[in-house]
Amino acid sequence: MSHAFSFTATAPAELWAEAADAAEALVAGEPDGIANMANVAALIWQAIPDLNWAGFYRFDGQELVLGPFQGKAACIRIPLGKGVCGAAARLRASQRVADVNAFPGHIACDAASRSELVVPVVADDRLIGVLDLDSPHPGRFTTDDQAGAEALIARIAGALAGT
Ligand code: SME
Repeated sequence: MSHAFSFTATAPAELWAEAADAAEALVAGEPDGIANMANVAALIWQAIPDLNWAGFYRFDGQELVLGPFQGKAACIRIPLGKGVCGAAARLRASQRVADVNAFPGHIACDAASRSELVVPVVADDRLIGVLDLDSPHPGRFTTDDQAGAEALIARIAGALAGT
């Protein structure tokens, strides 16, 4: 099966909808959650502009552990409640941070990151991990980006959890 996707929308809401359709097609029938995270990180990296990091942290039952991603090598373990990712995981609520330098406890993995969007991955009421998107531009992520990323994750959360 070809995995050559192209994304044509320019408005963020439509771009995220295209990415969500592609993500659903990518994970269809694949039971391995890590493989699915790897492909979805690559897909988001391709589809969504102005990112310097895109990927997953997986919840191991105790803390977040680095999962599949695109971008520079990153921090490996993040305790729940620490940083933007840890806050999203603990609260099970997306965190959209316009200026990471103003976020108490932000963990600077890549010094280029200026803004961040983290969406929790929850399947069957179980915390699977988080999707973390970083941008070198302050205020990069809009409410449309948040809604789009949340909708994408909601559609494929089961496939990210694996079987
Ligand atoms: N900045 C994140 C840590 C992960 S990296 O950005 C890849 C945080 O504060 O949780």
